Amino acid sequence: MHIVCRRSALHLGRGSILAGVGKERGIHSSCPRRTVMPAWVIDKYGSNDVLRYNENVLFPIIHYPNEVIIKVHAASLNPIDVNMRSGYGAKSLKMSRDPLHIKTSGSEFPLILGRDVSGTIMECGLDVKYFKPGDQVWAAVPPWKQGTFAEFVVASVNEVSFKPKSLSHTEAASIPYVTLTAWAALVNSCGLSKEKCPGKRVLILGSSGGIGTSSIQLLKAWGAHVTAVCSGNAFTLMKDLGADDIIDYKVAPLEDQLKTRDQFDVILDNIGGTNEALALQFLKPWSGATYVTLVTPFLYNNDQLGIADGMMRTGVTLASKVFKHYYKGIHYRWGFFTPSGPALDEVGELVDAGKIRPVIEEIFPFSKVPQAFQKLEAGHARGKTVIQVTDPEK
Ligand SMILES: NC(=O)c1ccc[n+]([C@@H]2O[C@H](COP(=O)([O-])OP(=O)(O)OC[C@H]3O[C@@H](n4cnc5c(N)ncnc54)[C@H](OP(=O)(O)O)[C@@H]3O)[C@@H](O)[C@H]2O)c1
Repeated sequence: MHIVCRRSALHLGRGSILAGVGKERGIHSSCPRRTVMPAWVIDKYGSNDVLRYNENVLFPIIHYPNEVIIKVHAASLNPIDVNMRSGYGAKSLKMSRDPLHIKTSGSEFPLILGRDVSGTIMECGLDVKYFKPGDQVWAAVPPWKQGTFAEFVVASVNEVSFKPKSLSHTEAASIPYVTLTAWAALVNSCGLSKEKCPGKRVLILGSSGGIGTSSIQLLKAWGAHVTAVCSGNAFTLMKDLGADDIIDYKVAPLEDQLKTRDQFDVILDNIGGTNEALALQFLKPWSGATYVTLVTPFLYNNDQLGIADGMMRTGVTLASKVFKHYYKGIHYRWGFFTPSGPALDEVGELVDAGKIRPVIEEIFPFSKVPQAFQKLEAGHARGKTVIQVTDPEK
């Protein structure tokens, strides 16, 4: 297949480093046009038995000129996959189905779950200059798009980044979604960066799962002091990842253990519930300290109340919490996964520099996606659960 790609004044990729600017160049797709592909889909929400392997799922289509089709070599699971399988976020997903091209026939089904991908670009939209077919890439696609438990997935170039050379596809697929969520919370919500981390004390509640293990590494790569809260059997992993102080939340009340430590500049809460009120007491007041939680009622409110009332309830809840803590000298924030190729570029550099490594607990073949869901649903994750989808050599 041969698609002519002309220079466009509209830079939908990363404009400053576009390849081939000023020239007309041909993009050759190594992907002969197919009409169907294998994927794991759900046709309704429910428990694990709604997952169905289907060899005849419609092949994804490039809808916008800044999109690429990626052949998925590996994907990984996140709690959002288990939650979405059960119907979490369904109202928001339904609302977004047509403009965001999950499906145009009035239903979000068949729905493909999976957010992480590491794979090879097979085809590029007409405005894509930054990538070309054959490039080895990684990405996390947002929940309103079809997912990565499939042979092919469509992503926008703004979501895609070159895969770190030092990682296999299986390793790379474990990183994007959790690290971009950690990035959104720590960088976008708390203002942390390489320059601002040294000297900062950061507490991570729920440090042993996907988000926790990636957050520790990002913060340590940037020189923060990290206190990790986890079960005792994750201590060795926490030490290996560089945590400076480790608290076992099961041996004694967390509140009592935190009272014996200095206060924190930043708290990242991956657990929520009663942890929130407890943790907020341990920030340094009037010093710019920030609490950010990833466990928010945003989609739950939409599911329960509908989009309009749900958004209203969410806005009121967030505003009241932000103001309440603002007057106590503390910034209160909610963090949300944010797809970002540019952030993945920076993460990739840290990976190739040996500062961030994949933390993989278990790898499943594509035929065992339901077993991978079962494993994640059982809880107590120690890093990530990865799915090998297609052989990169074929
Ligand atoms: N807002 C967003 O956009 C967004 C994005 C991604 C994830 N999230 C949410 O963030 C949370 C964490 O995600 P994840 O991918 O890291 O999940 P995960 O991989 O399942 O890890 C959760 C970890 O927390 C530990 N844990 C459970 N209870 C704990 C407690 N009371 N104190 C300390 N550790 C505890 C678990 O191990 P043990 O039970 O063995 O201790 C497990 O290691 C999930 O609720 C997820 O839904 C939100």
